[in-house]
Amino acid sequence: MVAAKIAPSMLSSDFSNLASEAHRMLSFGADWLHMDIMDGHFVPNLTIGAPVIESLRKHTKAYLDCHLMVTNPLDYVEPFAKAGASGFTFHIEASKDNWKELVQKIKAKGMTPGVSLKPGTPVEELYPLLDDEIPVELVLVMTVEPGFGGQKFMPEMMDKVRTLRQKYPTLDIEVDGGLGPSTIDIAAAAGANCIVAGSSVFGAPEPAQVISVLRKSVYEAQITN
Ligand code: DX5
Ligand code: ZN
Repeated sequence: MVAAKIAPSMLSSDFSNLASEAHRMLSFGADWLHMDIMDGHFVPNLTIGAPVIESLRKHTKAYLDCHLMVTNPLDYVEPFAKAGASGFTFHIEASKDNWKELVQKIKAKGMTPGVSLKPGTPVEELYPLLDDEIPVELVLVMTVEPGFGGQKFMPEMMDKVRTLRQKYPTLDIEVDGGLGPSTIDIAAAAGANCIVAGSSVFGAPEPAQVISVLRKSVYEAQITN
């Protein structure tokens, strides 16, 4: 069984109070903090960079699950490692020619390498990265077009999750976009174990309850499969 990791997306937090928002989510039972890094080029939105990760790191020892929606991920490895990132997940669409070097550098800097794919990218494109002698250790399946929180979950992406889970039983498979109490069961049944949730957690009157529903669904799908 692969452990459930519930990762509130800090994109939905109050950025002016990032440290207290992070502490609040951890006190509600979050395992990881999901940090969305957007460069205004790979995606049409601009968010935060290494200086913000560095500031947050001073306030928490939590696992900072960094999702880099950027055109040149290689340029960000060194600054993110220095800033204290835990996981470094890049997009395959931005690293077709240099993913080997990228994964090596991420590992050498002590971060966990992950790869993400947009809804239009076939899952087969990830096999070389998963079967390499230095493999990626997490796959983030986008369940919306990357760029913004609060979009609608795309259930048709679950074929990718099922295919990956069948082929890689112990892989960390993360889903990101539109996850919440009404969509978690289908993602959990497909085999996802890392769950990113922004608006459903931050917008809830009781975020702790949503986090616990997400975790329970992953756990129950695993014991019935
Ligand atoms: C979208 C981001 C997500 C986003 C998820 O590009 O990668 O992490 O914040 O937000 P919700 O859960 O609101 O869809
Ligand atoms: Zn994300």
